[in-house]
Amino acid sequence: MRICMVGSGRMANAHSRALGELPDVELHTVVDPDRDYAEALRERYGYRRTLPDLDEALAQEAIDAVVICTPNPLHAPQSAAALRAGKHVLCEIPLALSLADTEELAHLAEANRRCLMVCHTERFEAGRMELRRRIAVGEFHPVHVLGRYYMLRRGELKTEQAREGWVDNMLWHHGCHVVDAVMDIVGTHEPIDLHAQWGPAWPSLDLPLDVDVHWRALSPITGDEVLVTMSLSHHAQWAEHDYHVIGLEDDLLADHGALRHQEGVLVEESAGSARIIRQDTEFLAAVRESRAPEVDMASVLATMGVLQQAWEVWLRREAG
Ligand SMILES: NC(=O)c1ccc[n+]([C@@H]2O[C@H](COP(=O)([O-])OP(=O)(O)OC[C@H]3O[C@@H](n4cnc5c(N)ncnc54)[C@H](O)[C@@H]3O)[C@@H](O)[C@H]2O)c1
Repeated sequence: MRICMVGSGRMANAHSRALGELPDVELHTVVDPDRDYAEALRERYGYRRTLPDLDEALAQEAIDAVVICTPNPLHAPQSAAALRAGKHVLCEIPLALSLADTEELAHLAEANRRCLMVCHTERFEAGRMELRRRIAVGEFHPVHVLGRYYMLRRGELKTEQAREGWVDNMLWHHGCHVVDAVMDIVGTHEPIDLHAQWGPAWPSLDLPLDVDVHWRALSPITGDEVLVTMSLSHHAQWAEHDYHVIGLEDDLLADHGALRHQEGVLVEESAGSARIIRQDTEFLAAVRESRAPEVDMASVLATMGVLQQAWEVWLRREAG
């Protein structure tokens, strides 16, 4: 399968490293208007060529699949262009910055009969896979999920991206990880009685750096009612990212690839590329087998629906 990588920053490096280890993959083209960056990625992983323009890359018949690793606002238009050009798409999260754009992309993928997979990378962590297994076989029944994503203060102090010049969106990126984890743990659902509380906008960014979102869910897996809390901050001095899942049988904590309970570690996975290799392997398998990927569009749409509801609370607050 011949791959076109769009973007050549941090995640493009991570995918190139993973894809480069998989059989029957040819790293073909890198697209990035920053030629030096694109050239560095080409040399590091052995891509054939670099191009500054996506349309020119998509016009190549040789390309089978496109991996999109660009700033968030480009994901939807670049995914749409690739699907229209008849390419399969693996897109970094968030797929879009609205539910409406996500729905449009889902239709486009279906109409063009192309695979569209979103990089919900955390689903491919060993700890999360074990958590999912326990729930699926009825060993563990979640009743309360608390997802935290606390990042070091952004503001003037820090940006997360390798490249400067674009600002990540806490809700649509990090919130997307957390809500997808809830969809994965509880099962795909519509939120009941969703409430969101936003902190104030950070003056230099015109974006809020804190939000808490709560809702109830009826789990399609266990049939139980589950209480959900998502807490995000880009104001922290102490970074934290984990899922505390309170269940009828136990309390389980999924964090950074591991799964723990009070008595100790149940599954440990050291940081590394294993989760990206599993994720990209699943994308390639879905394309080759002409089937929907494990990260199915129904759960992606459900996640984006939760984010849209929370975002609208912010927009209403801003409008006064
Ligand atoms: N799945 C995950 O766990 C995970 C983790 C981190 C980041 N992400 C997502 O990955 C995406 C990329 O993040 P990153 O940290 O690699 O960012 P980055 O800033 O390191 O890289 C972005 C790249 O896009 C390039 N670019 C800008 N405009 C372009 C255009 N028009 N065409 C082609 N390339 C263009 C930039 O030159 C740069 O090389 C973000 O959307 C982020 O939300 C996902």
